[in-house]
Amino acid sequence: MSKRKSKESISTNGECISQVQKLLRERLCHHYATGKLFGTEHQYRHLLELLKRTTVHGESNSALIIGPRGSGKTALLNHVLKDLMEIKQVRENLLEVRLNGLLQTNDKVALKEITRQLRLENVVGDKVFGSFAENLAFLLEALRTGNRTSSCPVLFILDEFDLFVHHKNQTLLYNLFDISQSAQTPVTVIGLTCRQDILELLEKRVKSRFSHRQIYVINSFDFKQYVRIFKEQLSLPAEFPDETFAQKWNNNVQHLSVDKTVQDVLQNLFHYTKDLRSLHLLLMLAVSNVTVHHPLITASDLQEASKQYRMDSKANIVHGLSVLEICLIIAMKHLNDVYEGEPFNFQMVYNGERNA
Ligand SMILES: Nc1ncnc2c1ncn2[C@@H]1O[C@H](COP(=O)(O)OP(=O)(O)OP(=O)(O)O)[C@@H](O)[C@H]1O
Ligand SMILES: [Mg+2]
Repeated sequence: MSKRKSKESISTNGECISQVQKLLRERLCHHYATGKLFGTEHQYRHLLELLKRTTVHGESNSALIIGPRGSGKTALLNHVLKDLMEIKQVRENLLEVRLNGLLQTNDKVALKEITRQLRLENVVGDKVFGSFAENLAFLLEALRTGNRTSSCPVLFILDEFDLFVHHKNQTLLYNLFDISQSAQTPVTVIGLTCRQDILELLEKRVKSRFSHRQIYVINSFDFKQYVRIFKEQLSLPAEFPDETFAQKWNNNVQHLSVDKTVQDVLQNLFHYTKDLRSLHLLLMLAVSNVTVHHPLITASDLQEASKQYRMDSKANIVHGLSVLEICLIIAMKHLNDVYEGEPFNFQMVYNGERNA
Protein backbone atom coordinates (compact mmCIF):
# COMPACT_ATOMS: atom_id res chain seq x y z
CA MET A 1 0.00 0.00 0.00
CA SER A 2 2.71 2.41 1.05
CA LYS A 3 4.71 1.38 -1.98
CA ARG A 4 1.79 2.20 -4.26
CA LYS A 5 1.32 5.50 -2.50
CA SER A 6 4.94 6.49 -2.94
CA LYS A 7 4.77 5.46 -6.60
CA GLU A 8 1.69 7.64 -7.03
CA SER A 9 3.31 10.63 -5.40
CA ILE A 10 6.35 10.20 -7.64
CA SER A 11 4.18 10.16 -10.75
CA THR A 12 2.28 13.31 -9.77
CA ASN A 13 5.56 14.88 -8.83
CA GLY A 14 6.96 13.87 -12.20
CA GLU A 15 4.04 15.59 -13.89
CA CYS A 16 4.68 18.70 -11.78
CA ILE A 17 8.37 18.75 -12.55
CA SER A 18 7.82 18.53 -16.28
CA GLN A 19 5.29 21.37 -16.03
CA VAL A 20 7.79 23.47 -14.06
CA GLN A 21 10.54 22.75 -16.56
CA LYS A 22 8.30 23.64 -19.50
CA LEU A 23 7.01 26.83 -17.93
CA LEU A 24 10.36 28.15 -16.75
CA ARG A 25 12.22 27.16 -19.90
CA GLU A 26 9.67 29.03 -21.96
CA ARG A 27 10.07 32.03 -19.73
CA LEU A 28 13.87 31.98 -19.64
CA CYS A 29 14.78 30.80 -23.13
CA HIS A 30 12.21 32.27 -25.43
CA HIS A 31 13.13 35.43 -27.18
CA TYR A 32 9.52 36.09 -27.92
CA ALA A 33 7.24 38.11 -25.76
CA THR A 34 6.24 35.42 -23.30
CA GLY A 35 7.59 36.82 -20.08
CA LYS A 36 7.31 40.13 -18.32
CA LEU A 37 9.41 43.18 -19.11
CA PHE A 38 11.24 44.90 -16.27
CA GLY A 39 12.12 48.57 -16.03
CA THR A 40 11.12 49.57 -19.55
CA GLU A 41 7.57 50.86 -19.05
CA HIS A 42 8.44 54.31 -20.35
CA GLN A 43 10.12 53.00 -23.48
CA TYR A 44 7.26 50.57 -23.97
CA ARG A 45 4.66 53.35 -23.98
CA HIS A 46 6.75 55.50 -26.29
CA LEU A 47 7.19 52.73 -28.86
CA LEU A 48 3.57 51.58 -28.63
CA GLU A 49 2.34 55.12 -29.24
CA LEU A 50 4.68 55.49 -32.21
CA LEU A 51 3.63 52.24 -33.86
CA LYS A 52 -0.03 52.90 -33.18
CA ARG A 53 0.23 56.11 -35.11
CA THR A 54 1.52 54.20 -38.12
CA THR A 55 -0.81 51.28 -37.96
CA VAL A 56 -4.04 52.97 -36.92
CA HIS A 57 -3.68 56.50 -38.29
CA GLY A 58 -1.45 55.70 -41.25
CA GLU A 59 1.40 58.03 -40.31
CA SER A 60 4.96 57.37 -41.41
CA ASN A 61 7.78 57.41 -38.94
CA SER A 62 11.25 56.26 -38.03
CA ALA A 63 13.00 55.48 -34.76
CA LEU A 64 16.07 53.82 -33.36
CA ILE A 65 16.14 51.59 -30.30
CA ILE A 66 19.59 51.84 -28.77
CA GLY A 67 21.01 49.80 -25.90
CA PRO A 68 23.80 47.40 -24.97
CA ARG A 69 23.70 43.68 -25.81
CA GLY A 70 21.08 41.72 -23.90
CA SER A 71 19.41 44.85 -22.57
CA GLY A 72 16.04 43.84 -24.00
CA LYS A 73 15.74 45.76 -27.29
CA THR A 74 14.29 42.84 -29.20
CA ALA A 75 12.17 41.82 -26.22
CA LEU A 76 10.73 45.35 -25.98
CA LEU A 77 9.85 45.49 -29.66
CA ASN A 78 8.30 42.02 -29.61
CA HIS A 79 6.20 42.94 -26.59
CA VAL A 80 4.89 46.07 -28.26
CA LEU A 81 4.11 44.18 -31.46
CA LYS A 82 2.32 41.44 -29.58
CA ASP A 83 0.10 43.96 -27.84
CA LEU A 84 -0.51 45.85 -31.07
CA MET A 85 -1.65 42.68 -32.79
CA GLU A 86 -4.54 42.51 -30.38
CA ILE A 87 -6.11 45.42 -32.21
CA LYS A 88 -8.12 43.86 -35.04
CA GLN A 89 -7.43 46.61 -37.54
CA VAL A 90 -3.69 46.18 -37.02
CA ARG A 91 -3.74 42.41 -37.20
CA GLU A 92 -5.49 42.48 -40.56
CA ASN A 93 -3.51 45.29 -42.08
CA LEU A 94 0.04 45.58 -40.86
CA LEU A 95 2.83 44.15 -42.97
CA GLU A 96 6.10 43.40 -41.24
CA VAL A 97 9.49 43.19 -42.90
CA ARG A 98 12.35 42.01 -40.73
CA LEU A 99 15.91 42.50 -41.88
CA ASN A 100 19.12 41.74 -40.05
CA GLY A 101 22.47 43.37 -40.75
CA LEU A 102 24.21 40.05 -40.23
CA LEU A 103 22.13 38.33 -42.91
CA GLN A 104 21.40 41.01 -45.50
CA THR A 105 24.96 42.05 -46.11
CA ASN A 106 24.27 44.21 -49.15
CA ASP A 107 21.35 46.15 -50.54
CA LYS A 108 20.68 43.72 -53.38
CA VAL A 109 20.17 40.87 -50.93
CA ALA A 110 18.10 43.13 -48.70
CA LEU A 111 15.80 44.11 -51.56
CA LYS A 112 15.31 40.48 -52.51
CA GLU A 113 14.41 39.69 -48.93
CA ILE A 114 11.96 42.61 -48.78
CA THR A 115 10.28 41.34 -51.96
CA ARG A 116 10.09 37.84 -50.49
CA GLN A 117 8.65 38.96 -47.16
CA LEU A 118 6.05 41.14 -48.86
CA ARG A 119 5.22 38.13 -51.06
CA LEU A 120 5.65 40.14 -54.22
CA GLU A 121 8.00 37.83 -56.14
CA ASN A 122 5.30 37.07 -58.68
CA VAL A 123 4.41 40.71 -59.16
CA VAL A 124 8.00 41.66 -59.78
CA GLY A 125 8.64 38.69 -62.10
CA ASP A 126 11.44 39.44 -64.57
CA LYS A 127 11.05 43.21 -64.49
CA VAL A 128 14.26 45.20 -64.69
CA PHE A 129 14.55 48.40 -62.68
CA GLY A 130 16.73 51.38 -63.33
CA SER A 131 17.58 52.03 -59.72
CA PHE A 132 17.15 50.79 -56.22
CA ALA A 133 14.67 53.56 -55.43
CA GLU A 134 12.55 52.65 -58.45
CA ASN A 135 12.42 49.03 -57.38
CA LEU A 136 11.40 49.88 -53.82
CA ALA A 137 8.78 52.35 -55.01
CA PHE A 138 7.36 49.66 -57.28
CA LEU A 139 7.09 47.25 -54.36
CA LEU A 140 5.24 49.76 -52.19
CA GLU A 141 2.99 50.77 -55.07
CA ALA A 142 2.05 47.13 -55.54
CA LEU A 143 0.76 47.06 -51.97
CA ARG A 144 -1.89 49.67 -52.63
CA THR A 145 -5.42 48.37 -52.53
CA GLY A 146 -7.63 48.27 -55.60
CA ASN A 147 -9.03 51.78 -55.46
CA ARG A 148 -5.55 53.22 -54.80
CA THR A 149 -6.78 55.38 -51.97
CA SER A 150 -5.51 53.37 -49.07
CA SER A 151 -2.38 51.39 -48.56
CA CYS A 152 -1.24 48.79 -46.05
CA PRO A 153 1.10 50.20 -43.44
CA VAL A 154 4.51 48.56 -43.65
CA LEU A 155 6.82 48.17 -40.69
CA PHE A 156 10.50 47.72 -41.47
CA ILE A 157 12.50 46.31 -38.57
CA LEU A 158 16.25 46.51 -39.07
CA ASP A 159 18.12 44.49 -36.47
CA GLU A 160 21.88 45.11 -36.11
CA PHE A 161 21.12 48.44 -37.74
CA ASP A 162 24.72 49.67 -37.52
CA LEU A 163 25.81 47.07 -40.10
CA PHE A 164 23.51 48.58 -42.74
CA VAL A 165 25.53 51.81 -42.73
CA HIS A 166 28.40 49.97 -44.42
CA HIS A 167 26.29 49.21 -47.49
CA LYS A 168 27.34 51.09 -50.59
CA ASN A 169 26.12 54.71 -50.42
CA GLN A 170 23.75 53.66 -47.63
CA THR A 171 21.18 53.31 -50.41
CA LEU A 172 18.73 51.14 -48.50
CA LEU A 173 18.72 53.41 -45.46
CA TYR A 174 18.46 56.51 -47.61
CA ASN A 175 15.44 55.16 -49.47
CA LEU A 176 13.67 53.80 -46.42
CA PHE A 177 14.05 57.03 -44.49
CA ASP A 178 13.09 59.00 -47.58
CA ILE A 179 9.82 57.09 -47.94
CA SER A 180 9.16 57.37 -44.21
CA GLN A 181 9.27 61.15 -44.65
CA SER A 182 7.05 61.44 -47.67
CA ALA A 183 3.40 60.66 -47.34
CA GLN A 184 2.98 58.12 -50.15
CA THR A 185 2.69 54.97 -48.07
CA PRO A 186 2.54 54.64 -44.30
CA VAL A 187 5.98 53.24 -43.58
CA THR A 188 7.74 53.02 -40.26
CA VAL A 189 11.38 52.12 -39.96
CA ILE A 190 12.63 50.81 -36.63
CA GLY A 191 16.34 50.16 -36.19
CA LEU A 192 17.87 48.20 -33.32
CA THR A 193 21.49 48.75 -32.44
CA CYS A 194 24.01 48.64 -29.60
CA ARG A 195 26.09 51.52 -31.00
CA GLN A 196 25.58 54.73 -29.08
CA ASP A 197 27.31 56.72 -31.82
CA ILE A 198 25.01 55.42 -34.52
CA LEU A 199 23.91 58.85 -35.76
CA GLU A 200 27.50 59.80 -36.53
CA LEU A 201 27.76 56.80 -38.82
CA LEU A 202 24.90 57.99 -41.02
CA GLU A 203 25.68 60.02 -44.12
CA LYS A 204 24.42 63.57 -44.03
CA ARG A 205 21.63 63.04 -46.55
CA VAL A 206 20.50 59.91 -44.68
CA LYS A 207 20.69 61.56 -41.29
CA SER A 208 18.62 64.51 -42.41
CA ARG A 209 15.81 62.17 -43.40
CA PHE A 210 15.79 60.34 -40.09
CA SER A 211 13.26 61.56 -37.53
CA HIS A 212 15.87 61.56 -34.74
CA ARG A 213 13.58 59.63 -32.48
CA GLN A 214 15.79 57.52 -30.26
CA ILE A 215 14.61 55.13 -27.59
CA TYR A 216 17.31 54.15 -25.12
CA VAL A 217 17.06 50.80 -23.36
CA ILE A 218 19.41 50.66 -20.42
CA ASN A 219 19.12 48.26 -17.51
CA SER A 220 19.37 50.73 -14.68
CA PHE A 221 18.04 48.72 -11.77
CA ASP A 222 19.80 48.44 -8.43
CA PHE A 223 20.61 45.21 -6.63
CA LYS A 224 17.35 45.16 -4.70
CA GLN A 225 15.34 45.28 -7.89
CA TYR A 226 17.66 42.68 -9.40
CA VAL A 227 16.85 40.25 -6.57
CA ARG A 228 13.17 40.98 -7.04
CA ILE A 229 13.46 40.14 -10.73
CA PHE A 230 15.30 36.94 -9.76
CA LYS A 231 12.40 36.04 -7.51
CA GLU A 232 9.74 36.87 -10.07
CA GLN A 233 11.45 34.99 -12.85
CA LEU A 234 11.69 31.82 -10.78
CA SER A 235 8.24 31.94 -9.17
CA LEU A 236 5.37 29.84 -10.42
CA PRO A 237 2.14 31.65 -11.34
CA ALA A 238 -1.09 31.30 -9.38
CA GLU A 239 -2.67 29.33 -12.21
CA PHE A 240 -0.13 26.49 -11.90
CA PRO A 241 -2.17 23.22 -11.84
CA ASP A 242 -0.75 21.78 -8.60
CA GLU A 243 -1.34 24.46 -6.01
CA THR A 244 0.47 22.77 -3.13
CA PHE A 245 3.57 22.22 -5.17
CA ALA A 246 3.50 25.79 -6.48
CA GLN A 247 3.28 27.08 -2.94
CA LYS A 248 6.19 24.90 -1.84
CA TRP A 249 8.24 26.02 -4.82
CA ASN A 250 7.48 29.70 -4.28
CA ASN A 251 8.32 29.48 -0.57
CA ASN A 252 11.60 27.92 -1.50
CA VAL A 253 12.32 30.73 -3.99
CA GLN A 254 11.52 33.26 -1.27
CA HIS A 255 14.01 31.55 1.06
CA LEU A 256 16.62 31.45 -1.66
CA SER A 257 16.30 35.15 -2.30
CA VAL A 258 17.40 35.95 1.26
CA ASP A 259 20.02 33.22 1.49
CA LYS A 260 23.57 34.53 1.93
CA THR A 261 25.14 32.18 -0.62
CA VAL A 262 22.54 33.03 -3.26
CA GLN A 263 22.93 36.73 -2.60
CA ASP A 264 26.67 36.36 -3.13
CA VAL A 265 26.16 34.53 -6.42
CA LEU A 266 23.70 37.20 -7.60
CA GLN A 267 25.91 40.03 -6.44
CA ASN A 268 28.85 38.59 -8.36
CA LEU A 269 26.81 38.38 -11.53
CA PHE A 270 25.25 41.79 -10.95
CA HIS A 271 28.66 43.44 -10.70
CA TYR A 272 29.83 41.60 -13.77
CA THR A 273 26.80 42.43 -15.90
CA LYS A 274 23.33 43.71 -15.19
CA ASP A 275 21.73 42.39 -18.34
CA LEU A 276 18.90 39.97 -17.80
CA ARG A 277 20.09 37.62 -20.52
CA SER A 278 22.93 36.55 -18.21
CA LEU A 279 20.57 36.18 -15.26
CA HIS A 280 18.26 34.05 -17.41
CA LEU A 281 21.16 31.83 -18.43
CA LEU A 282 22.19 31.35 -14.81
CA LEU A 283 18.65 30.45 -13.79
CA MET A 284 18.30 28.16 -16.76
CA LEU A 285 21.39 26.19 -15.70
CA ALA A 286 19.96 25.87 -12.20
CA VAL A 287 16.48 24.90 -13.39
CA SER A 288 17.95 22.13 -15.56
CA ASN A 289 19.08 20.41 -12.36
CA VAL A 290 15.52 20.00 -11.11
CA THR A 291 14.34 16.40 -11.26
CA VAL A 292 11.80 14.21 -9.50
CA HIS A 293 14.40 13.27 -6.91
CA HIS A 294 15.62 16.82 -6.54
CA PRO A 295 12.41 18.84 -6.92
CA LEU A 296 13.46 22.18 -5.45
CA ILE A 297 16.35 24.45 -6.41
CA THR A 298 19.00 24.81 -3.72
CA ALA A 299 21.62 27.45 -3.07
CA SER A 300 24.34 25.05 -4.13
CA ASP A 301 22.56 24.53 -7.48
CA LEU A 302 22.87 28.23 -8.10
CA GLN A 303 26.48 28.21 -6.99
CA GLU A 304 27.22 25.36 -9.34
CA ALA A 305 25.38 27.15 -12.15
CA SER A 306 27.45 30.26 -11.53
CA LYS A 307 30.64 28.22 -11.75
CA GLN A 308 29.44 26.65 -14.98
CA TYR A 309 28.50 30.06 -16.32
CA ARG A 310 31.96 31.46 -15.70
CA MET A 311 33.83 28.44 -16.97
CA ASP A 312 36.36 29.11 -19.69
CA SER A 313 35.31 26.68 -22.40
CA LYS A 314 38.77 26.64 -24.02
CA ALA A 315 40.56 25.82 -20.78
CA ASN A 316 37.87 23.24 -20.16
CA ILE A 317 38.84 21.29 -23.26
CA VAL A 318 42.34 20.57 -21.91
CA HIS A 319 41.14 19.65 -18.45
CA GLY A 320 41.72 15.99 -17.73
CA LEU A 321 44.30 15.40 -20.47
CA SER A 322 47.36 13.35 -19.60
CA VAL A 323 50.83 14.93 -19.55
CA LEU A 324 51.73 13.19 -22.82
CA GLU A 325 48.60 14.54 -24.51
CA ILE A 326 49.33 18.08 -23.34
CA CYS A 327 52.92 17.75 -24.62
CA LEU A 328 51.61 16.68 -28.01
CA ILE A 329 49.27 19.66 -28.13
CA ILE A 330 52.12 22.02 -27.29
CA ALA A 331 54.27 20.43 -30.01
CA MET A 332 51.39 20.83 -32.47
CA LYS A 333 51.04 24.47 -31.56
CA HIS A 334 54.79 24.99 -32.20
CA LEU A 335 54.66 23.23 -35.54
CA ASN A 336 51.62 25.24 -36.52
CA ASP A 337 53.59 28.42 -35.87
CA VAL A 338 56.68 27.14 -37.69
CA TYR A 339 54.81 25.93 -40.79
CA GLU A 340 52.31 28.81 -40.71
CA GLY A 341 49.23 26.63 -40.94
CA GLU A 342 50.68 24.16 -43.52
CA PRO A 343 49.68 20.54 -42.89
CA PHE A 344 51.94 18.25 -40.85
CA ASN A 345 51.67 14.66 -39.66
CA PHE A 346 51.83 12.80 -36.38
CA GLN A 347 55.44 11.70 -36.88
CA MET A 348 56.55 15.32 -37.14
CA VAL A 349 54.68 16.21 -33.96
CA TYR A 350 56.15 13.23 -32.17
CA ASN A 351 59.68 14.07 -33.29
CA GLY A 352 59.15 17.69 -32.35
CA GLU A 353 58.08 16.67 -28.90
CA ARG A 354 61.05 14.33 -28.40
CA ASN A 355 63.45 17.05 -29.45
CA ALA A 356 61.89 19.58 -27.13
N1 LIG B 1 13.95 44.51 -19.21
C1 LIG B 1 13.81 43.20 -19.41
N2 LIG B 1 12.76 42.54 -18.87
C2 LIG B 1 12.60 41.22 -19.06
N3 LIG B 1 13.43 40.44 -19.77
C3 LIG B 1 14.49 41.03 -20.32
C4 LIG B 1 14.75 42.43 -20.18
N4 LIG B 1 15.88 42.73 -20.82
C5 LIG B 1 16.31 41.57 -21.36
N5 LIG B 1 15.48 40.56 -21.06
C6 LIG B 1 15.63 39.17 -21.47
O1 LIG B 1 16.97 38.99 -21.87
C7 LIG B 1 17.05 38.28 -23.10
C8 LIG B 1 17.82 39.07 -24.11
O2 LIG B 1 17.10 40.21 -24.49
P1 LIG B 1 17.05 40.73 -26.00
O3 LIG B 1 17.23 39.61 -26.95
O4 LIG B 1 15.83 41.56 -26.14
O5 LIG B 1 18.34 41.65 -26.00
P2 LIG B 1 18.84 42.62 -27.15
O6 LIG B 1 18.97 43.96 -26.53
O7 LIG B 1 17.96 42.49 -28.34
O8 LIG B 1 20.28 42.06 -27.41
P3 LIG B 1 21.11 42.03 -28.79
O9 LIG B 1 21.74 43.37 -28.92
O10 LIG B 1 22.13 40.96 -28.56
O11 LIG B 1 20.14 41.72 -29.89
C9 LIG B 1 15.63 37.99 -23.54
O12 LIG B 1 15.37 36.63 -23.33
C10 LIG B 1 14.75 38.85 -22.67
O13 LIG B 1 13.63 38.13 -22.29
MG1 LIG C 1 18.20 41.79 -30.27
